Amino acid sequence: MSELRTRDVVESDLPAVLSIRARSFGPLGAGGEQWWQRVSGETLGGRMLAVVDESDTVVGAGRIRPFEQAWGGRHLRMGGVAGVYVEPSARGRGVATTLTRALVRRMGELGDVVSCLFPTTPTLYRRTGYEVGGVQTRTTYAGHLLRALGTSRGTAQVARGDGLRPARPEDAQRLHDQAREAGSRHGLSGPMVQSVATVRGALERNELIAYVVDGGHVVYDLSEHALTVEELVATTPEAAATLWGVVGSGSSAVPTVHTYLDPRDPVALVLGGLPETDVRQVPWMGRVIDLEAAWHGRGFNPHLSVEVDLVVSDAEAPRNSGRWTLAVSGGSGTATRTDGTPLRGDGDTRLSPDIASTGPADGEVLRVEARGLSALWCGWSVSRLRQAGLASGGTRDADAALDAAFAAQPFITEYF
Ligand SMILES: CC(C)(COP(=O)(O)OP(=O)(O)OC[C@H]1O[C@@H](n2cnc3c(N)ncnc32)[C@H](O)[C@@H]1OP(=O)(O)O)[C@@H](O)C(=O)NCCC(=O)NCCS
Repeated sequence: MSELRTRDVVESDLPAVLSIRARSFGPLGAGGEQWWQRVSGETLGGRMLAVVDESDTVVGAGRIRPFEQAWGGRHLRMGGVAGVYVEPSARGRGVATTLTRALVRRMGELGDVVSCLFPTTPTLYRRTGYEVGGVQTRTTYAGHLLRALGTSRGTAQVARGDGLRPARPEDAQRLHDQAREAGSRHGLSGPMVQSVATVRGALERNELIAYVVDGGHVVYDLSEHALTVEELVATTPEAAATLWGVVGSGSSAVPTVHTYLDPRDPVALVLGGLPETDVRQVPWMGRVIDLEAAWHGRGFNPHLSVEVDLVVSDAEAPRNSGRWTLAVSGGSGTATRTDGTPLRGDGDTRLSPDIASTGPADGEVLRVEARGLSALWCGWSVSRLRQAGLASGGTRDADAALDAAFAAQPFITEYF
């Protein structure tokens, strides 16, 4: 195991990768074969990497799923890291660390500007610059409360003809556009938007139940125990009421409704009752892959005007390293490298380690490593970063400017 290297997974590696998966999570369940075909098809050819030993035997693998994620209401390219597993006999020797480093590098090459993952252990990913970004929240409602929303407003809508009907595969573009537009309208950070092809595929395979209405749609699945809302988008109170009415309409048979939505979904403002106190949260971690592009792509409050310096040291994503001036104006951001430190050649793009010497006012500039940058990106305040030992230097005034610039309450609704 002395000579570990990483390379792209090729088709002929898939049985070996699947075997390690089985030794990590057990055999594929019902429908697992099709799922495996889909995820491997999505990532083969650049988005699935393997760690191999000196005899080219695969000892670990991981995938980068091509996602879009809202940040400040604008959608960025996000690499969703999943399927990280290591052959049990090769564990504890840095295989996963080697793999994660390679995944971060690859995302930079592919143009993914941020990354997210659901960790089983945070320490592994902290090593490569990820930090806890937020949670996926499952909130539970009594179905009859949701049904009441529909009968108070939605039924009248149906009578008037509000276009309520089951969604068809050809509605995929519409569902995608509505979800994207909702992210912008609410200025959301965190949620992912499914590609049109993914939505169409799910509708074609009848994996999910979906309804459209004028001004919105709902996507849910159903078991004998509960109905689970995966997505509900509405542009008007009437559309929301109609869709919630559909969800609640089966409360006689399935009284429990789980939702994976924005923790601040406006349904909380109209419901004639409270959600159940049993809330389930699954933490996810985020990472900035390309600060300059991510800052440029992220949306900001158009009334915010900020300019603040930040020194970043990021060994795994060296193009993040350096002294930056981050500016926000008119709802857009610019990140300008202000240390003048050039990147070295392609072979070794690490910045010289002495970015410490970035000028006379260094002590006044907040300094973070990759984890601190990722936490800041995900809306953790500088005071919290300091308490966790993830930031140093800076001034109170600059802290407040950074807090305003990075302000977000990110969440993810979909587990991957
Ligand atoms: C988790 C897993 C990928 C780690 O692989 P690995 O090659 O042994 O990892 P590394 O040797 O690079 O270890 C890196 C760090 O991860 C952490 N880590 C690894 N296994 C861990 C475990 N079982 N529990 C808690 N932390 C663990 C440790 O902090 C470790 O550093 P340390 O050994 O210095 O303490 C591997 O155990 C595995 O395949 N597990 C089953 C599948 C899984 O959980 N995948 C992760 C999905 S997010």
